[in-house]
Amino acid sequence: MASSSPSFLFSLLSLFSLFSSISSLPTITVPLSQFNNNPSPDPWEKVAHLVSASLLRAQHIKSPPDTHPTKTPLFARSYGGYSIPLSFGTPAQTIPFVMDTGSDLVWFPCTHRYLCKNCPFSSLNLTTDPIFIPKASSSAKVLGCKNPKCGWIHDPDVQSRCRDCDPNLSNCTQICPPYAIIYGSGSTAGILLSDILDFPETKVPDFIVGCSLFSSRQPSGIAGFGRGSPSLPSQLGLKRFSYCLVSHRFDDTTESSTLVLHGGSDSDGGKTKGLTYTPFAKNPTTGRHAFSVYYYVGLRKITVGGKRVRIPYDYLTLGADGNGGTIIDSGSTFTFMERRVFDLVAGEFENQVSHYRRATDMETMTGLRPCFNVSAEKTISLPELVFHFKGGAEMALPLANYYSFFGKAGVVCMTIVSDDVVPDTGVSGGPSIILGNYQQQNFYVEYDLENDRLGFSQQIC
Ligand SMILES: *[C@@H]1O[C@H](CO)[C@@H](O)[C@H](O)[C@H]1NC(C)=O
Ligand SMILES: *[C@@H]1O[C@H](CO)[C@@H](O)[C@H](O)[C@H]1NC(C)=O
Ligand SMILES: *[C@@H]1O[C@H](CO)[C@@H](O)[C@H](O)[C@H]1NC(C)=O
Ligand SMILES: *[C@@H]1O[C@H](CO)[C@@H](O)[C@H](O)[C@H]1NC(C)=O
Repeated sequence: MASSSPSFLFSLLSLFSLFSSISSLPTITVPLSQFNNNPSPDPWEKVAHLVSASLLRAQHIKSPPDTHPTKTPLFARSYGGYSIPLSFGTPAQTIPFVMDTGSDLVWFPCTHRYLCKNCPFSSLNLTTDPIFIPKASSSAKVLGCKNPKCGWIHDPDVQSRCRDCDPNLSNCTQICPPYAIIYGSGSTAGILLSDILDFPETKVPDFIVGCSLFSSRQPSGIAGFGRGSPSLPSQLGLKRFSYCLVSHRFDDTTESSTLVLHGGSDSDGGKTKGLTYTPFAKNPTTGRHAFSVYYYVGLRKITVGGKRVRIPYDYLTLGADGNGGTIIDSGSTFTFMERRVFDLVAGEFENQVSHYRRATDMETMTGLRPCFNVSAEKTISLPELVFHFKGGAEMALPLANYYSFFGKAGVVCMTIVSDDVVPDTGVSGGPSIILGNYQQQNFYVEYDLENDRLGFSQQIC
């Protein structure tokens, strides 16, 4: 870590290194009392849901269907994501959104008759939660088919997407055709609007936003922060944006951190003090849905307790065919690893952790693995997990970012997921590793779009 880390963090790190020097392999030891990151009374039901949501998300990601910094509070939510409020329209209506770096459209529910199917873990309550009402905004306009921004979602060729217009397109009254977007878990559909995006410091006119009429499995609207043209950073022309994710311990509380949107360029193109950087890689495949919205990073190796996990090179590398490699995604809860990679990482933990008994019942209940029975312990020690990136940046995870403690059962489980299918065909189907938000808790993360790099540092948010 950089030496400019805040002093409280520094003392915490010294504590870790003290423990590290005791045993032969680097381990992290923390009192269990500081480690209870599952506030709900029946955590495994929730966790089992988050595991399946993370997996569905991974499956989707891996096979998608064909000026002044602006600050916005960011809240941890029990649906497994982070929420930001954004205001649209005249007068402004403020709506909560999931902050999602793995997709690119910004959309909100926009009718009192909005249908949200299968939203059991939804925070959306139509009687209490705000819905955007286009009729109440004097600046809201339905996007026309001829508008080039309609081509962000539909065929960029205006003749083929606006079939109802006369061939000359001189008198086209057709609206931009409805959108339907599929996420890892769930979907949404509606029509595109143009309206003012209203920040306290600035108003952004003609912002394209989806007005959704139907969704499934969506906790709220989504603010896409990915690389595509409709995303919030693209429409605002941001040079960089950054966030610090508060611990999921603060799910659904008023505790928040800050999402910062930088419109202005750095005068010196310099690095933010205290951050270490790794370059972004762009997926070589083309087309709107061909993984082009994701933020790829060059993960070079993974160490467990200081020992390198021998991950085959083609999983770590983003191949010319667009498969393999690692993305960072704020919309995934738990980190996903392709089966082959996961087995190697989990296996290394299983090898190194001989001082606790496996809790296989909990593994079945939660879908997480490995789980260890620590009911007799006052503190726990587990091997350190470090992601090593291109350019030398290292992400040494705090224990609570990759193990979850279930207090009632006295069990800790690794919070990394994989699917059940063992691929015998090698690397296929998109990114091999998806770094989810659970692994980014208490990290300051900067997406430096201008210099095409990711910066981060461990920090109490
Ligand atoms: C929605 O909020 C209302 C008013 O607070 C409450 O009565 C109702 O039970 C809530 N519905 C759900 C599904 O939480
Ligand atoms: C409209 O299209 C017709 C044939 O498709 C063409 O003859 C006519 O000149 C066009 N008018 C304009 C204004 O481009
Ligand atoms: C445009 O179309 C509308 C109805 O489709 C028609 O009433 C109007 O005259 C047309 N205007 C021109 C300039 O062609
Ligand atoms: C953990 O171990 C204790 C005995 O040390 C046992 O009583 C308890 O049932 C175990 N818990 C689980 C979840 O396996």
